[in-house]
Amino acid sequence: MMFFKNLLVLILTLSCVVKQLFVAAKLPQAEVDVLNQIVKTMGATNWTFDADTACEFHEKSAVTELTRNISCILGPDNSTHHISVIEFKRYSLSGVLPPELNQLPNISKVDFSYNYLNGSIPVEWASMQLTFISLFGNRLSGNIPSQLGNIISLTYLDIEANQFSGTVPTQLGKLVNLGTLRLSSNRLTGNLPTEFAELKILTDFRINDNNFNGSIPEFIQNWKQLYRLEIQGSGLKGPIPSSISLLENLNQFKISDIDGTNQTFPDLSNSTLLRRMTLRNCNISGEIPGYVWEMNKLRVLDLSFNKITGKLANVAVPGDLKFIFLTGNLLSGNIPESILTRGSTVDLSYNNFTQPTLEHRACRNAQSGIRSELVSKFFGGQTT
Ligand SMILES: *[C@@H]1O[C@H](CO)[C@@H](O)[C@H](O)[C@H]1NC(C)=O
Ligand SMILES: *[C@@H]1O[C@H](CO)[C@@H](O)[C@H](O)[C@H]1NC(C)=O
Ligand SMILES: *[C@@H]1O[C@H](CO)[C@@H](O)[C@H](O)[C@H]1NC(C)=O
Ligand SMILES: *[C@@H]1O[C@H](CO)[C@@H](O)[C@H](O)[C@H]1NC(C)=O
Ligand SMILES: *[C@@H]1O[C@H](CO)[C@@H](O)[C@H](O)[C@H]1NC(C)=O
Ligand SMILES: *[C@@H]1O[C@H](CO)[C@@H](O)[C@H](O)[C@H]1NC(C)=O
Ligand SMILES: *[C@@H]1O[C@H](CO)[C@@H](O)[C@H](O)[C@H]1NC(C)=O
Ligand SMILES: *[C@@H]1O[C@H](CO)[C@@H](O)[C@H](O)[C@H]1NC(C)=O
Ligand SMILES: *[C@@H]1O[C@H](CO)[C@@H](O)[C@H](O)[C@H]1NC(C)=O
Ligand SMILES: *[C@@H]1O[C@H](CO)[C@@H](O)[C@H](O)[C@H]1NC(C)=O
Repeated sequence: MMFFKNLLVLILTLSCVVKQLFVAAKLPQAEVDVLNQIVKTMGATNWTFDADTACEFHEKSAVTELTRNISCILGPDNSTHHISVIEFKRYSLSGVLPPELNQLPNISKVDFSYNYLNGSIPVEWASMQLTFISLFGNRLSGNIPSQLGNIISLTYLDIEANQFSGTVPTQLGKLVNLGTLRLSSNRLTGNLPTEFAELKILTDFRINDNNFNGSIPEFIQNWKQLYRLEIQGSGLKGPIPSSISLLENLNQFKISDIDGTNQTFPDLSNSTLLRRMTLRNCNISGEIPGYVWEMNKLRVLDLSFNKITGKLANVAVPGDLKFIFLTGNLLSGNIPESILTRGSTVDLSYNNFTQPTLEHRACRNAQSGIRSELVSKFFGGQTT
C-alpha cells in the first residue's frame, strides 16, 4: 500500500504540469465574460474560464514553462474577487492584444510574453492603472503609442523582441515610476527623448539591437540607481558620456558597436559593484585602468575589438573574474600568469603579446592541466 502511495506521489511529482485549482470567493460574472472575451481576442479560441475557478488559476509547466496564471484580489465586501494579474506566456497565441483589459477594474499586471500576438498596443490601456506590462517576444509592430505615457503607475515595461518602429514617444518620459524599461530588439529609430532624463529611479534599461541614431545621451547620469545598462548594437554613437562615472550602482554594463569617435576608457572607478563589463567594439584607445583589476565582484570582462594598448604582465586578476575577452586589441608584453587560472575562459588572440614567453607559459600550464582549447586560443591570430 505504502509502495503504491509513494509511486503515486512520484508520478504526480514527475508530471510536467503543476496545476493548482483553488475554489475561492467568486469572480463577478461580468469579469468572467470579459476574461473569456480577452482570451478569444488573443487567439486562444478553446479556453474558457468560469466564476468558480477563474481566480487562483495557476498553471505552469516545469518543462516547457508554458504559464497560465490568473490572480485576484478580494473586493471590499470580502466576498467577491477581482482579477489583478493575468499571465499567458509561451502559448503561441496569434491574436492581438485585448483592448477589453480596461474593463477589469483591478488589473495591475499583464505578462503576455513569448506569443505571436500582432498589431499594436491598444490605446484603451492608457486609462488603466497598470504597474507591470511584459510583451516580450511577440510580433507587435507600428509605433509605440504615445498614450502609454499616461500609465504613470507603470514600474515595469518590457516590449523587447517585437517589431516596433518609429521614434520612442517623448510621452514615455512621464513614466517616472519605471524601474525597468526594455526596448531591445525592435526597429526603433531617432534619438532617445530628452524627457527620459526624468526616469530617475530606473534600475534596468536595455535598448540593444535597434536603429537609433544620435549619441548616447548625457542624461543617463540622472539614473543614479541604474543596476543594468545595455546599449549593444543600438545604432547610437559614442562617445560614452564621461558622466557615466556617476552610476555607482552598476552591476551589468554592456555597451558595444558604437562608432564615430576615438575615446579613452570610460571612468568607472566608482562602479565597484560591477559584475559584468562589456565594452566591445567601442573604438577605445589607451590602457586598461588599474582599478579594473581591483573590481573584486567582476566576473565577466569583455573589451574585445578596441585599440587598447599597454602591458598586462603585472596585473593580478581578481578571483571571481572567470571570463576575460581582450581579443582584437594592441596589448603587448608578457601574458600575466594570473590570467591563466583553471576554469577560466580567456581569449587574448589578435593582440601583440610577446611570443616566446607566451609559448613557454602556455605549454607549462598545459602540462599542469589547463584545458587545451584555452591554450590554443593564445596561438590564434597574429601571435602564430
Ligand atoms: C486548443 O486548440 C489548440 C489549437 O488551437 C490545440 O492545439 C489544443 O489541443 C486545444 N486544446 C484543447 C484543450 O482542446
Ligand atoms: C501567479 O501570479 C502571482 C501574482 O503575480 C504570483 O505570486 C504567482 O507566483 C504566480 N504563479 C505562477 C504559477 O506563476
Ligand atoms: C472585510 O474584512 C476585513 C478584515 O477581515 C474587515 O476589517 C472588514 O470590516 C470586512 N469588510 C466587510 C464589508 O465585511
Ligand atoms: C479596485 O477597483 C475599484 C473600482 O475601480 C477601486 O475603487 C478599488 O480601489 C480598487 N482596489 C484596488 C486594491 O486596487
Ligand atoms: C496579424 O496576423 C493576421 C494573421 O494571423 C493577419 O491577417 C493580420 O493582417 C496581422 N495584422 C498585422 C497588423 O500585422
Ligand atoms: C538620424 O538619421 C537621419 C537619416 O539618416 C538624419 O537625417 C538625422 O539627422 C539623424 N538624426 C540624428 C539626431 O543624428
Ligand atoms: C575610431 O576613431 C578614429 C579617430 O577618431 C576614427 O578615425 C575612426 O573612424 C573611428 N572608428 C570607428 C569605427 O568609428
Ligand atoms: C585616439 O586617442 C588617443 C588618446 O587620446 C590618441 O593617442 C590617438 O592618437 C588617437 N587616435 C586617432 C586615430 O586619432
Ligand atoms: C568617486 O567617488 C569619490 C568619493 O565620493 C569622489 O570624490 C570622486 O569624485 C568620484 N569619482 C568620479 C570619477 O566620479
Ligand atoms: C608590437 O610589439 C612590438 C615589440 O614589442 C613593437 O615593436 C610593435 O610596434 C608592436 N606593434 C603594435 C601594432 O603595437
